[in-house]
Amino acid sequence: MPVSESTSEQLSGGQTMYALRAHERGGPEQLVYERAPQPAIGLGDALVRVHAASFTPTEMAWPPTWEDRAGRERRPTIPAHEVAGTVAALGYGTTGPEVGAPVYALTDWYRDGAAAEYIAVEVRDLAPMPTTLSFVEAAAVPLAGLTAWQALFDYGALSAGQTVLIHGGGGGVGIFAIQLAHSAGARVIATGRKWAQRLVTELGADEFIDLEQQPFEEAAGAVDLALDLIGGDILKRTWSVIRPGGALVSVVADPVDMAPESLQARGAFFIVTPNRDQLIELARRIDAGALRPIVGAVRPLPDGRAAFEAKLTGGIPGKVALAVVE
Ligand SMILES: NC(=O)c1ccc[n+]([C@@H]2O[C@H](COP(=O)([O-])OP(=O)(O)OC[C@H]3O[C@@H](n4cnc5c(N)ncnc54)[C@H](OP(=O)(O)O)[C@@H]3O)[C@@H](O)[C@H]2O)c1
Repeated sequence: MPVSESTSEQLSGGQTMYALRAHERGGPEQLVYERAPQPAIGLGDALVRVHAASFTPTEMAWPPTWEDRAGRERRPTIPAHEVAGTVAALGYGTTGPEVGAPVYALTDWYRDGAAAEYIAVEVRDLAPMPTTLSFVEAAAVPLAGLTAWQALFDYGALSAGQTVLIHGGGGGVGIFAIQLAHSAGARVIATGRKWAQRLVTELGADEFIDLEQQPFEEAAGAVDLALDLIGGDILKRTWSVIRPGGALVSVVADPVDMAPESLQARGAFFIVTPNRDQLIELARRIDAGALRPIVGAVRPLPDGRAAFEAKLTGGIPGKVALAVVE
C-alpha cells in the first residue's frame, strides 16, 4: 500500500523516509523498500515531497544509477528520475517555486531518484505541474516527453510534411513522439508489437507496422527521420530506409557505429537532459488537450520492484507510475 500523507510526515519528521533502494549493483531484483535518510538539500536545491514517480525500464543498467559524476560508487542508490510532487523546502538562499507548489521534473541521473518519499532536485529543473493532470499522470511525462521532444526537434530537426518512422511507438517515449510528430505536421509511421496498434493509431500514427509480422523496410519505404527506441538489429536495419539527407536518431545506441560506409544521412545518439522550458511547453500542450501521457499501470511504492519487473517483461503501454502519496 502507498504510505499515507499523515503517516509519511510522521516517519520523515526524524530525517528518515521510506524509499526503494538497491545496495548492490544489478537489476530490479536488488530493490528493497526500506527506511533511508531524507536527502540533504544544498544551495540551488528544493526538497520535493514525492506524490508519484516514474522510471525507465533499463535505468538499473545505466552507470549514473550507481556512480557520481567523479565515477565514485554512490550505493545504496534510489532509482526513478521522473517526479511529480510538491515543494517541501528550499535550500538555504535558494529562490524558486513556493513551498507547497505542485511541480514536476526530470531529475539528475547522478543523484538519488524519486522512488522515495522525498527527493532533492535542483530548482532550475523544476517546472509547474500541468494543471489538468493527477500526480500519477504528471509523473509519466518528464523523461519520456523530454526525450521525445529532444529527439524529434533538437536532434532530428523534424518539420511539417516530412515522414518520420518511430520504432517502439507504444512505449513510454514512443507515445509522446507520435503525438508530437503528428502535431508538427509530419506523416507518422509507428512500429511495435501487435498490442500497440490501436493505441498508436489513436494517438496520431498514420501507419502501424507489426515488427513481428513483416520486415519494416518493405512497409515503411523511404523516410526523412527515424527515431529508434529499440536498438539492436532493428536500429542497424533502419539505415536502409533513411532518405539521402535524412537522419536516424537513437536513444538506445549510437547509430553511427553501425552505419553503412556510403552514408548520405546523419546519425545521432543522445542522453536526455533536464529542460525546464521544454517541460513548460509540454505542460502547456497537455493543459490545452493537445498532448496526453499514457499510464499503463500504477503500483504503490512498496511494490516498486514488481513495477520495474513488469515493465521489463513488456506489453505495458506508455509508462508505469509509482504512487507514493494516496
Ligand atoms: N538515451 C536516453 O536519454 C534515453 C531516454 C529514454 C529512454 N531511453 C531508452 O529508450 C528505450 C525506450 O524507452 P521507453 O521508456 O520508451 O521504453 P518502453 O516503454 O519499454 O518502450 C519500448 C517499446 O518498444 C517495444 N519493443 C521493444 N522491442 C521490440 C521488438 N523487438 N519488436 C517490437 N516492439 C518492441 C516495446 O514493446 P513491449 O513492451 O511489448 O516489449 C515497447 O512498447 C529504452 O531502451 C530506454 O532505455 C533512452
